[in-house]
Amino acid sequence: MCGIVGYIGNRNACPFLTEGLKRLEYRGYDSAGIAFLSDNELEIIKDKGKISELESNNSLSNLNFSVGIGHTRWATHGEPNKINAHPHFNHNKSICIVHNGIIENYEEIKIKLEKDGFRFISETDSEVLVHLIDYFLSRGYSLFQAVRYSLNEVNGTYGLAVISKKEPDKIIVARKGSPLIIGIGKNENFIASDLQALISYTNKVVYLADDEIAEIRNDSFFTRTISDESIKKEIEDVDLELEQISKGGYAHFMLKEIMEQPNSIQNSIRGRLLFEEGTSKLGGIENYVDRILNSRRIIITACGSSWHVGLIAEYMLEQFAGIPVEVDYASEFRYRNPIISNDDTVIFISQSGETADSLAALKEAKRKGALIVGICNVVGSSIARESMTGVYIHAGPEIGVASTKAFSSQVMIFALLSLLLARRLNMSKQDGSNIILEINSISEKIKNILDNNEIIKNIAEKFKDVKNFLYLGRGYNFPVALEGALKMKEISYIHAEGYPAAEMKHGPIALIDENMPIVVLAPKDSVYEKVVSNIKELKARKGIIIGILNEQDNELSNIVDYVIRVPETIRMLMPILNIIPLQLLAYYIAVSKGLNVDQPRNLAKSVTVE
Ligand code: M6R
Repeated sequence: MCGIVGYIGNRNACPFLTEGLKRLEYRGYDSAGIAFLSDNELEIIKDKGKISELESNNSLSNLNFSVGIGHTRWATHGEPNKINAHPHFNHNKSICIVHNGIIENYEEIKIKLEKDGFRFISETDSEVLVHLIDYFLSRGYSLFQAVRYSLNEVNGTYGLAVISKKEPDKIIVARKGSPLIIGIGKNENFIASDLQALISYTNKVVYLADDEIAEIRNDSFFTRTISDESIKKEIEDVDLELEQISKGGYAHFMLKEIMEQPNSIQNSIRGRLLFEEGTSKLGGIENYVDRILNSRRIIITACGSSWHVGLIAEYMLEQFAGIPVEVDYASEFRYRNPIISNDDTVIFISQSGETADSLAALKEAKRKGALIVGICNVVGSSIARESMTGVYIHAGPEIGVASTKAFSSQVMIFALLSLLLARRLNMSKQDGSNIILEINSISEKIKNILDNNEIIKNIAEKFKDVKNFLYLGRGYNFPVALEGALKMKEISYIHAEGYPAAEMKHGPIALIDENMPIVVLAPKDSVYEKVVSNIKELKARKGIIIGILNEQDNELSNIVDYVIRVPETIRMLMPILNIIPLQLLAYYIAVSKGLNVDQPRNLAKSVTVE
């Protein structure tokens, strides 16, 4: 979590730092701060809250400096306040740092440094870094070497930037488990933890890899590993437009991203449907299809919404490829010594490609010899780079903290993968072609749901003050219920639970009374009749039912209290349609409660700490 920016060059760095930090606030917004060199002195301006507050309270627009670093924080160690905000100084204010990640052995280092006379001001783990660097500087090392030696002492993760008044012509940056990108300009260079901060300034970037450190000047940079080996980095071109990361007239990124789904789904399938052959093509994994098909089993590992996609993929892959599938939370997988061998395929799903638990789980599975497949949105992200093969979902930048278009595109990629595997096994060309036709029509069907959003808005208005929600579904729609409940929780702060519809009878039905709204996913599929019975059980206990029903369903529309219609499709694509009303319901409720849907409390877009 947390966002980092930095600039060294000839123009005023302040606009880049403030604009860049605003673009990175989706990574955390508990506090913000900048540090800069002015008249040969280092200055820090920081405070609790967002960068816009820091900007207006301190008239940042009046500043003019050409070397600076900045930080937007998601608090881990120490509450969100001014003292714990980054940047952090050493004792005589000659160096300062911004850090993203967690220093796991900070207490041990802190005790040693305190014995040597260093005084700590904040409660953060990050502060040990600045004193440790100071310690090595006092032994005569250059800033670069002092940072390198310091990083050899720490365990944990870091995206780090350091400036010094004694070596004012450079920024030192380093990375381990937390992204750090150098943006290359003309007689100026930039740093950022994400591309978003850089794109109005340069499209030439260098991605630092784990355990790498760089010294950046106006017109040059060099890199080494933390263990002091020399390395040569490629300058890469990035293909990201400013328009893709602006709200484009929408009130919130989340709404824009929900509304974008007809397009984002098209982008996910573009060039990947082989109409003639009734199958799909996923270029990235072409050479690994046999190995996947011959796998003893597939393990899918992810967090949050991406984990819900994993559950949907389990249904798809078992149905279409006949390979046993297990789905695991990355945070559990990485610590339970999973039994994995080289005849397993482990698939990692991650929008950001930077989720710390998923990345650590990936490294563990790789060490054990499994085939590693990454399904990511962010091009060049850590998970994409560490995977042996993979597929980009091409949903475009997702800025809203609540995942929406990435979810639907991830599901679509698994539909394409399932089709591809099934056609390599025993699915007929005709059946394959039928699936392709359905895939190809999904964007229009999403559009149809979005066009009817007024109905959902009205329902949201009625339920905005409730304290609890239940979401029920069966089969492919059970993970959709989980995802719908997660959307409601994270942006509306309403307690919500997703459940397999039939499990209700084993306990949660005790919660049902006339105050409990229950969203039931009841498409016309093979378990429709079972869901009808579940709904009747709930109605008998006075539950208020919001039914997500197919267009032609006149049976349930007479039983449920509120109806939201979705077009029919084949079972494996239903999650893509059924999640749309649930995204909108959560969105409209959050808006009518006056909440900040793009930056919900306590959350960050990409969770780069465990
Ligand atoms: O970037 P990732 O897909 O790895 O992120 C995983 C979760 O952190 C993410 O899905 C999170 O649960 C979202 N806030 C859900 O809306």
